[in-house]
Amino acid sequence: MIDAVDVADRNAALIDWYETAGRDLPWRVIGNPYLTLVSEAMLQQTQADRVAPAFEAFIERWPSIENLAEAETRELLAMWSGLGYNARALRLRQAAMIVRDTGWPSSVSGLEQLPGVGPYTAAAIASIAFGVDVPAIDTNLKRVLSRWRGAPLSGQPLDAYAKAVLASPAGTWNQAVMDLGAACCRPMNPLCSECPVARWCMDPTVYVPPPRQRAFKGSRRELRGALVRAAIGDNDLYAAGRSLNRSEEEIAAAIEDLCAEGLIEQSHHSDHRATTQ
Ligand code: ADE
Repeated sequence: MIDAVDVADRNAALIDWYETAGRDLPWRVIGNPYLTLVSEAMLQQTQADRVAPAFEAFIERWPSIENLAEAETRELLAMWSGLGYNARALRLRQAAMIVRDTGWPSSVSGLEQLPGVGPYTAAAIASIAFGVDVPAIDTNLKRVLSRWRGAPLSGQPLDAYAKAVLASPAGTWNQAVMDLGAACCRPMNPLCSECPVARWCMDPTVYVPPPRQRAFKGSRRELRGALVRAAIGDNDLYAAGRSLNRSEEEIAAAIEDLCAEGLIEQSHHSDHRATTQ
C-alpha cells in the first residue's frame, strides 16, 4: 500500500489540476441535490459533453424537484430524447415525487431507496450535494484507481482502496477523478505526459475493460425508442416499427409492454400516444 504522505501529495496535485483544468459543466454546483440527481441520471448512459445542453434545457423547464414531480410524460420523454432508456426518465420523476412528499434522504443508504438510484448514483449525490465523504465508484474511477494501484481492482478491494485514498470533500475529489479519467487517464492511450499525478501512478498500462455495450441495432431497445418517439410525434407506431424491419408481432408485443410500463398510452381509437399524465 502506498503511504499516507504520497496519498496526500497525489490528492493535492489532483485537486490543483482540477481547479484549473477541470471541465466547466453546468451541474457542478456543490450542494444542490436536485441538479446532481438529474445530471447523474442523464450521465448514466451519455457522455458529459452531450448531456450538458440537454441538462440545461431540462433544468430550465423543470427548475425544482416539485416541478419535475408534476411533469407530463409526453413532454418528459421528449426532453429525454437522445439520452437513452426512457424508463429512466420515468424513474427520475418517481424519485422526484417521493422527494417532494417525504424530503431528501441525505445518506447513501437513504438515497439508494429512490427509484433509479443505485450505489454509484447514491454515492455521487451524497458526496457532491450533501458533503458525505464517500467514493462514487464507476468505471472511470475503477480504471484510474486500478492504475494508481498497479493492478485491476474491483469489488471489495476496489471499495477499500477508494476509501483509503480519497480526499475530503469527496464530492470535489470524485469529480476530479472523473475529469482525470476523461482528459488523461483514458481507457486506451492514456496521456501520462499531461497527467498531474503520473509520478504517483504505479502502472498506467493496467487495462480495465469497459462494461460490455450490447448491440443497439436490431435490439429491443432500438424498437422501443422508435415507438416512443413515434408516439410523442403522433406518428404511426406500426410504420415506425416496420421501418426497422420488425414483424407485426414484435411491434405489437413492444407496444403492449410500453403501454403496461406507462411510456405510451392506448387511446380509445386504438392509436397510441405518449401518455400525458
Ligand atoms: N459522469 C458522471 N457524473 C459526472 C460528473 N459529475 N461530472 C462529469 N462526468 C460525470
